[in-house]
Amino acid sequence: MPSCIAALTPPRKGARQVRQRKSLILPFRLAHLSDLHIGPLPAVRLRQLVGKRLTGYWNWHSSRKTIHDMMVLEQVVADIAAAGADHVACTGDLANLGLPAEFETARHALDVLGGPEQVSLIPGNHDAYVGESLPAMAAALAPFMRGDAGPGFPYLRRRDGVALIGVNSGVTTMPFMATGAVGAPQAEALAGLLRHTAAKGLTRVVMIHHPPHFHGTRWGRRLSDAARIEALLAAEGAELVIHGHNHRHSVAWLKGPRRPVPVVGVASASAVPGSPAHQAAWHLYTIAGTGAAVTIDVHVHGRQPDGRFAESAVFRLDAEAQS
Ligand SMILES: [Fe+2]
Ligand SMILES: [Fe+2]
Repeated sequence: MPSCIAALTPPRKGARQVRQRKSLILPFRLAHLSDLHIGPLPAVRLRQLVGKRLTGYWNWHSSRKTIHDMMVLEQVVADIAAAGADHVACTGDLANLGLPAEFETARHALDVLGGPEQVSLIPGNHDAYVGESLPAMAAALAPFMRGDAGPGFPYLRRRDGVALIGVNSGVTTMPFMATGAVGAPQAEALAGLLRHTAAKGLTRVVMIHHPPHFHGTRWGRRLSDAARIEALLAAEGAELVIHGHNHRHSVAWLKGPRRPVPVVGVASASAVPGSPAHQAAWHLYTIAGTGAAVTIDVHVHGRQPDGRFAESAVFRLDAEAQS
């Protein structure tokens, strides 16, 4: 296997890493990880290193391979599996150069977390690195990226009283650029899904790789149509938006129709210890109640001084306090 992440024991056939729901009174527990950046790079053919991949290959060997540690990722994946969440959201950047072999390796990590029905995946910019990347990702991982009604973005998965909405912001860009875009057709469909699921009384969780707002990151890394998505959220609202991309923990509040929309970013799942905001972590969201009465708590699971991963902080996303 090209990576030690592949050494993780796959689940027994029929085994579930997610817990069985025993009561609708229990909060829905959603695990969130992102930016796995699985390494080391697989063997690369010379013809695969043209264009953007050439700069990415140099970037990996000059710095990124020292930042993303697969032993750390194994610990994060094991900690999530042990937590027994109801569902797992993975918000992209599984790969580095968008090579087919990278997505094959990524499948091993997702299989440890659960089956395609229990794990929801969306692409990041590194998964759309060059033109062949997203088709290669779909070839290996399509069952994790489809809605209850079928393939295509945005997708909708209804789990208990929660609407999980997956958005693809990964687009192929010029070298040294890490921008993303949702696009007008996908944004229009997203607005429709948010409206439809609100009418059903569902708690809406939007999964997107890039921060959805203009000030969510810097030039060269942001959504090119962030203004469109901010306006969309202001009109339709959402109970929670989760993203990756920045490799750091963050919380922002955007304008919503009745109350502010919480936007939570998670650190990279494979980052080696660095500053407290940058080192590897994953989030567990506990979602209780519905509609205006919904409460969402964020449990940050980070690396402890002894090297283990455990809950390091917990806080409530209090929309009323932001109004
Ligand atoms: Fe990333
Ligand atoms: Fe990214």
